Amino acid sequence: MADKKPVTICIINLKGGVGKSTITALLSRYAFNNRKKDVLAIDIDPQANLSQGLMHQSYSTFLSQKGASVVEVFNDYIPPNKNGGAQPLSADAVSEIILDGGDRKLELIPSRFDFSDALTNAVRPDPKILARFLSRNFKNKDVILIDCSPTESVFTTAAYHASDYVLIPVKPEFFATIGFPLLAESLENFKRKNRSQGIEVAGVVINNAFYHGGNDGGPEKKRAMKEIRDECRRNGWHVFSKQMYHSRGYPKLMRGDYSHSGDAGLFWTFADEFFARLGI
Ligand SMILES: Nc1ncnc2c1ncn2[C@@H]1O[C@H](COP(=O)(O)OP(=O)(O)OP(=O)(O)O)[C@@H](O)[C@H]1O
Ligand SMILES: [Mg+2]
Repeated sequence: MADKKPVTICIINLKGGVGKSTITALLSRYAFNNRKKDVLAIDIDPQANLSQGLMHQSYSTFLSQKGASVVEVFNDYIPPNKNGGAQPLSADAVSEIILDGGDRKLELIPSRFDFSDALTNAVRPDPKILARFLSRNFKNKDVILIDCSPTESVFTTAAYHASDYVLIPVKPEFFATIGFPLLAESLENFKRKNRSQGIEVAGVVINNAFYHGGNDGGPEKKRAMKEIRDECRRNGWHVFSKQMYHSRGYPKLMRGDYSHSGDAGLFWTFADEFFARLGI
């Protein structure tokens, strides 16, 4: 039998505000709660929206206590602090337990606002460092989800090195696919330089589409949907059949508040399709 190995997915679109962090938070909770998986979520966006969504109030405590974060993963050590000198990085030091099921957990490696400052101003970090750290410390996880920032950088490459799959959320709006050519090119470049790695686009998920049942979005959204389908066909990217509707429930669900989720409660239809496609 092959070794147990996590399936790692990075959530990316080089366009902002399309739902990457929301989807990462929801898929992480869904994998843990509904599919009973041992899950690690990683926030590599300096905006730290995923960290705030999963940690809530404890994120401010984490910041004020200068907890170890993904910055330390990229630096490859824990800096000296009041407890002593520089320490080697450990899994426990950088991961926060969000949900604990005993033998399986939902853990998070949080981000920090000074992420880019701390790293990009220094020597360019090794883009393989994240993959290496995960392979050493989290090889028993079932699922690892990485929330990317909307701009391409060394951290995007780091996410590729660590990932089996890419999930691309898109919002059917004006210029919906503006980032697709750049993303396709960045993936092709990566694959050309890293031929032994089997990274694939798992698919494109239509998010924040229209109100379920009621409004179909009108001609603007129809035009955007056609543009998305055409671009996906051109790139050979699968489009998930289940869509995520526009719902004010999403910001609540992101924080883990499952009361009155409205149409956001239909998220599971996409989540099931997604995990089934990946065989998770
Ligand atoms: N289906 C939806 N219905 C309503 N609001 C949504 C939906 N999906 C996302 N949102 C809201 O849209 C905003 C952007 O979502 P989110 O932060 O997940 O996007 P993002 O792609 O991670 O953004 P960024 O590029 O800044 O990282 C948030 O306020 C979120 O609550
Ligand atoms: Mg985000």
